[in-house]
Amino acid sequence: MSLLDVKAIRKDFPILSRKVHGQELVYLDNAATSQTPQAVIDSIVHYYSHYNANIHRGVHSLSQEATDAYEQTRIKIQKHFNAAHAHEIILTAGTTHAINIVASGYQELLQAGDVLLVSALEHHSNIVPWQMLCEKTGAELQVIPMLQNGTLDMAAYHAMISPKVKLVFCNHVSNALGTVNPIEEIIGAAHAVGAAVLIDGAQAAPHLQANVQALGVDFYTVSAHKLCGPTGVGVLYGKQALLEQLPPYQGGGEMIATVSFEKTTYAGLPHKFEAGTPNICGGIAFGAALDYMHGIGFDQIAAYEQELLDYATQALLAIEGLKIYGTAARKTAVISFNIEGLHPYDIGSILDQMGIAVRTGHHCAQPIMDYYQIPGTVRASFSFYNTFEEVDRLVAGVKKAKSMLC
Ligand code: ALA
Repeated sequence: MSLLDVKAIRKDFPILSRKVHGQELVYLDNAATSQTPQAVIDSIVHYYSHYNANIHRGVHSLSQEATDAYEQTRIKIQKHFNAAHAHEIILTAGTTHAINIVASGYQELLQAGDVLLVSALEHHSNIVPWQMLCEKTGAELQVIPMLQNGTLDMAAYHAMISPKVKLVFCNHVSNALGTVNPIEEIIGAAHAVGAAVLIDGAQAAPHLQANVQALGVDFYTVSAHKLCGPTGVGVLYGKQALLEQLPPYQGGGEMIATVSFEKTTYAGLPHKFEAGTPNICGGIAFGAALDYMHGIGFDQIAAYEQELLDYATQALLAIEGLKIYGTAARKTAVISFNIEGLHPYDIGSILDQMGIAVRTGHHCAQPIMDYYQIPGTVRASFSFYNTFEEVDRLVAGVKKAKSMLC
């Protein structure tokens, strides 16, 4: 018996009652973006209706109210991830922006011959910035290989670790396969040789609450829109000493202490990395989203989603010719699959006609698809507001697509 009152929870999400192609929407593309509860929508409307103003720069009441609300979000994020300081939370435009801040900063700290390790399970956003960094510095990017079940080859990782390794990058959860990576082990081995670790938490954050101090992770990145928040907002958590070492990413207003034509000095953390007017409303709405999710409870969310995952996995595997990619023992509620002889795009298009939203393609993780020698997969990704009936509709839809296409 589930601990969540999913029927009640679904009423919080206006979009879940809409129809697509005349059918009730079954939204199973949560790994791409989660849906938005009314409380978050209300916080956006309230901001623009009552205290829309620029932050950190006005003595007037509206500006102070907006500043307080925005800074409240930073504190909520700090508490959520158990960061030691609020100024270790840099508000960004998303995970991609957060990773690029770190990659750009390390240009000044690396030299030719340094080695960077990236996991084979990464989203492009945790590959391409490091390739660009290596091109600029002469450092070498080496890949921690993956295994058939969609986990990392940890024996290979330990063999690759050496004092030459300066940085290690890995996602906490693979967006394409749902694998939960052993980041404690990855961080421990990296720290033993003095390397820093960036964990992309974009896909983990909706499902499990990372404790950055307990993990000892150096950098952790998140996107608000995977956590019932708006797009265009994200987080770079970094240990204070490391963030202080990195130069600013962009120059402009907000990130300075003093400016003259002779010399500019930079603001301290977190503002050094927050040039320009940020997504103020989005930041405040992210705070509302975190409140909303805590109101449901991350432990309850994880337990319920695990039930959904197990149920959906069994039901899909019963379809002849269906193969699931990513069969790790620890997974979040993501199922990537193909049906023998069928193109994922065709299956996804037929599911859409039935009101069922899934993602098809390489999921911004082309190296994983290359490893499996497939063009892509159909990916169904679940959230706490999905139901077992929706899983049944997915399974029936896949069966129908199969009968239409075969
Ligand atoms: N990274 C997002 C996904 O996996 C967009 O779909």
